[in-house]
Amino acid sequence: MGIKMLTIEDLDLEGKRVFLRVDINTPIHPETGALMERARLEEAAMTVKDLPNSKVVVASHQGRVGRPDYTSLEAHAKVLGDIIEKEVRFVPDVFGPEALSLIDSLPDGGVLMLDNLRFTAEENQEYKPADAEKTHLVSRLKGHVDACVLDAFSTSHRASPTIVGFAGLVPTCAGRTVGRELRMLDRIESVEKGPYVTVLGGAKVNDRLEAIDALIANGRADRVLLSGVVGLVFLKAAGKLRGDIGVDGEQKFVIRARQLMDEDPERFVLPLDVATRGEGGRKEVEPWQVGSAAQVLDIGSKSIDRYSHYIKGAGTVFMSGPPGAFEWEEFSLGTEGLLRAMASSLGTTIISGGHLSTALVKYGIHDQIDHISTAGGALVQYLAGKRLPLIDALERAAEKWGRSKA
Ligand code: 3PG
Repeated sequence: MGIKMLTIEDLDLEGKRVFLRVDINTPIHPETGALMERARLEEAAMTVKDLPNSKVVVASHQGRVGRPDYTSLEAHAKVLGDIIEKEVRFVPDVFGPEALSLIDSLPDGGVLMLDNLRFTAEENQEYKPADAEKTHLVSRLKGHVDACVLDAFSTSHRASPTIVGFAGLVPTCAGRTVGRELRMLDRIESVEKGPYVTVLGGAKVNDRLEAIDALIANGRADRVLLSGVVGLVFLKAAGKLRGDIGVDGEQKFVIRARQLMDEDPERFVLPLDVATRGEGGRKEVEPWQVGSAAQVLDIGSKSIDRYSHYIKGAGTVFMSGPPGAFEWEEFSLGTEGLLRAMASSLGTTIISGGHLSTALVKYGIHDQIDHISTAGGALVQYLAGKRLPLIDALERAAEKWGRSKA
């Protein structure tokens, strides 16, 4: 791995005010506002438990500005408290007087959760470390924290103030999630081989197209098996789907998909059939027969067989985003089928994102996958060989604070 970083054991954090940057960004139910899974909260809980005698200030972002999942962290604090079986006090503030005074009055062993960091304008921007140190967010908090634990592996690719701004100011080390992810990825890198198969689904088209570009550039996508909304974009670009898909920036995405397929037609594998809701329940049809893309809720059986064949023949296979709406039994065949193919593949298997890790647990096959990461975009960037701002911050911190105790 060759990454030099400090861990919690390297710093004396007893009785110290510890700023713990986690990533508990969680899918939120659009109607009820409830948290739809708790994989990231469970990971964060393990790191909180590693700090039993510190004054722990838990901080995370949630959602993106303007999106329905851009919410307060109050419910997250409650769930975290249930997992660690200890009160997690929530403050609806990030660096105002209320937050600062509660941080200063935390008892040893106390846990406080700040509100959504992206409620502050600065956390939505990316900075060089020296500029991040000067943000209001970091400069107001810095006098109230004695150390920083960076554990937001899934936000490693964002140079936001709370990711890159503390390492030069207070002793900073990696938390348990970052350690686990890097150890597993290091092991995988030492054994992995081609052919490289990437299986992409889910709804975030822009992120998936970026992932494809990055993975191709790093030679990690000999085959790209597509499903979900990104699969529909490629079907449309291939002239196999009628009507609009209804996503923002659709035209731009379709053009990019067309270019990618023109550059290398063999690389991309598109659904042969899809599942929609018919009168008697699940109905499988060819993509061209679908009236509106919004009706597509899964890939069909022929696609599952075809994709499974590629997955089983892969040397290394990376899967991100579910192929269907697996929350509904009748549309879970694609997700279950591809995950079972992953579980029985002789290649090295990596699964990314909270949705798929939740599904793996549901099907009882999570112990048959080599690496399950709750990270999405950050993992793609890592696999694509990009430098990650959070890892850089940990390396700088090791250099600066390596010989001192917090
Ligand atoms: C993620 O879910 O990938 C991380 O929490 C980062 O979120 P972002 O893509 O909104 O920065």
